[in-house]
Amino acid sequence: MKKIIHLIAATRPNFMKIAPLFHALSQERWALPRIIHTGQHYDYDMSDTFFSDLNLPKPHFNLRIGSGTHAEQTGKVMIAYERLVVKEKPDLVVVVGDVNSTLAVALVVAKLGIKSAHLEAGLRSFDRRMPEEINRIVTDSLADLLWTPSPDGDKNLISEGIHREKIKRVGNIMIDSLEMMSGRIKSDDACVKLGLNSGRFGLITLHRPANADNIDMLSTFSESLMYIAEKIPIIFPVHPRTKKNLISFNLYKRLGNAPGVHLLRPLSYIPFMNLVFNCKFVITDSGGLQEETTYLNIPCLTLRPNTERPITITKGTNSLCQITEINNKVDEILKGKIKIGKIPKLWDGLTAVRVVKSIRDFLAV
Ligand code: UD1
Repeated sequence: MKKIIHLIAATRPNFMKIAPLFHALSQERWALPRIIHTGQHYDYDMSDTFFSDLNLPKPHFNLRIGSGTHAEQTGKVMIAYERLVVKEKPDLVVVVGDVNSTLAVALVVAKLGIKSAHLEAGLRSFDRRMPEEINRIVTDSLADLLWTPSPDGDKNLISEGIHREKIKRVGNIMIDSLEMMSGRIKSDDACVKLGLNSGRFGLITLHRPANADNIDMLSTFSESLMYIAEKIPIIFPVHPRTKKNLISFNLYKRLGNAPGVHLLRPLSYIPFMNLVFNCKFVITDSGGLQEETTYLNIPCLTLRPNTERPITITKGTNSLCQITEINNKVDEILKGKIKIGKIPKLWDGLTAVRVVKSIRDFLAV
């Protein structure tokens, strides 16, 4: 009998985390991987395009829970997934990252006595104002297996009293996706279609509530982008949350009409990564981009007071940046003052292989 393994995906960055694992498990005769999409992200641009870019089949189950408050989202996933999991009886449930669906599923299976594993465990910003930090702490306290990307992850888990045997350092799964798709990323024409020259534009993303829901932050941010765009073109694929707010704060049109500023719809994985590969610098509040830029040795300014990925700062090309510092920091990058980084250990495209080995050991197959 094959072992049924549920891979839980919910939001845009989750798809890149389950893809390498789905492909690796599909090669194993003993494994039956099943993709469960909770439906937290549902727009074509935020979900479907990632499945085709990452060569994933349609989700085996879609819970279609959609948007809502934290409690609504978490509660809806719990109710819908509980119904499914008692019927499907998986041997292992894999949750990834730190979104509301990750926490919801971890909670459901812990109470049903079903085994779970957390991929990207141990990351901590030590800032509980971020909903993701609460999701990480609770998920890690419930999971049976904790797969960490870097030594700080192991250290955080041990200091929270988690048993060492549960912790396996496997590396960074996002780098597997990047390596798996690098041929298609390099030959993609996103950069060319936008009329951009390699190394001659800045790439922007912004979606955290602390930035994107705040009118003062968004106004200052827009002013900065217009300042930078006078010197170098700016490409900004806008997350739906941010777009809604830019429009309601009357900033969207002005920013979109500014010379050198290109506001785009959210992009799928391959064209977006083509822009990352070719840009001069990134300004972001995303977690994954801090890691991808470190791997690619591209300067990254992270618009947050802290990060749960400190290795991207100590080893990589990432720097934390306040909203009022953007202009000066970009000016420095344009003058050639660039942080040179190193790639952290085990960020090598082989994380899925290590995870499969860990699952085999855990399930004793
Ligand atoms: C969620 C995650 C965040 C992750 C991010 C990646 C939580 C608490 N937050 O944030 O950790 O970094 O995904 O993008 O789990 N919307 C759409 N279409 C969609 C999805 C969302 O229009 O397909 C809009 C809706 O107005 C929704 C809002 O975006 O209310 C926010 O979506 P939500 O999933 O709640 O949070 P994100 O900000 O995307």
